[in-house]
Amino acid sequence: PVQHTPDGAVLVHAVPEDVQADRERLYQEGPVVRVELPGGVRAWATTHHEVSRATLNDPRFVKSVAHWADFQSGAVTAEWPLMGTIPTDDTNMLALDGAPHRRMRRLIASPFSARRVERLRPRIEALTSKALDALEERAGERLDLRSEFTFKVPMAVIGELYGVAEEEYTNLGEMYAKLFSGTTEEGEHLQIYATLFQFFAEMTARKRAAVDEHDDFTADLLRAGEGEDDALSDTEIAVTLLTVVAAGHETTVNLLNNVVRALLAHPGQLDRLRRGEVTWDAVVEETLRYDPPNNVMMFRFATEDVEIGGQTIRKGEALMTHYGAATRDRQEFGEEPHPSVFDPDRTQGRHISFGYGPHICPGAPLSRLEAGIILPMLFERFPDLRLAVPDEELEVVAALSVTSLREFPVVLRP
Ligand code: HEM
Repeated sequence: PVQHTPDGAVLVHAVPEDVQADRERLYQEGPVVRVELPGGVRAWATTHHEVSRATLNDPRFVKSVAHWADFQSGAVTAEWPLMGTIPTDDTNMLALDGAPHRRMRRLIASPFSARRVERLRPRIEALTSKALDALEERAGERLDLRSEFTFKVPMAVIGELYGVAEEEYTNLGEMYAKLFSGTTEEGEHLQIYATLFQFFAEMTARKRAAVDEHDDFTADLLRAGEGEDDALSDTEIAVTLLTVVAAGHETTVNLLNNVVRALLAHPGQLDRLRRGEVTWDAVVEETLRYDPPNNVMMFRFATEDVEIGGQTIRKGEALMTHYGAATRDRQEFGEEPHPSVFDPDRTQGRHISFGYGPHICPGAPLSRLEAGIILPMLFERFPDLRLAVPDEELEVVAALSVTSLREFPVVLRP
């Protein structure tokens, strides 16, 4: 059952015991739920589909922490571990609102477009192939698919996108994983952030000095808005690069893991996939709904009192989108098949797992491209891939943001 504080707020844990059951319970409490987060921080959560869409697209809810009363009063400080998931600087598009946000989105649109990321296809195939080759020798042993494969390939793709060497990016992923676990020591995320910023600022400066020699995402950003007076500054580019890893790596790792996990738990669907009765696209989209990589998105802040979903959210209060709970919405996804069921043939409803409104994920084309290449190649190479432990034993490390598996023990070729 849901645990409440004495005054009726729902206690939301950084790591729930059972993520899927937690989603259903929060949905039942919805549509708008008063929550208490680790550290006693109070907020609201939208846990139904329509109210989530409405608030994500409502200019009365903004991303800037300048509008968060508890942050401004010092009741919540920068040291709160979950601040690692809340951008606070005004060069980060995730923290921007209104016209400055629209400007950033306009300037990054082309570098992120489906057409620009499509050129990575042959490289993604080659990187996947190389990563699969590296697993051949140990295919009969238990290994961690997360650290050995699903973590590595998207990191290599980002390296490719940015045009940086492997040695440079291998430890970046680890730093981010820590940043997003919400389990760092007090203040540790601030140090990690500073290190990452320096890395990307140096890279931007290096490429700026010889932009014509590069044809990668960084160079695209350097050229974005060229000749106009609102081109991206080097600081904005460095922060964008930093944000792309933050917003795009662990989420993609998670999508890959979640698809593999759903298929192993539903072998009938895997068979249908092999017989061509269902497409990889349908499986990926249903996984995005059934087990969204971004379980919770923190925070938006009310700029005035807002009445919504039977509650009044006061000016200055924080609101999070509980994507996980919203996936259980009967009104959007119907009763049959029940939203708790993984069913790639589902026709009713549209997930919002890439967000909605002005901040909708610009990385969706890249993650879909990656999933559509990496997953079929994995199952083609290792058709008998299976879990090395029962599914119930898979452990999740965080659920307030991205629900990552601590380890994904499999045997590739039993
Ligand atoms: C924003 C989900 C992959 C870059 C978002 C948002 C969601 C999301 C829900 C909206 C945040 C909000 O409302 O505040 C996902 C999921 C992914 C994924 C589920 C993988 C399956 C990626 C990738 C990239 C990326 C691969 C980069 C290449 C971004 C950026 C933003 C964002 C930069 C901020 C946009 C803004 O604030 O205007 N993502 N994302 N994401 N995502 Fe993704």
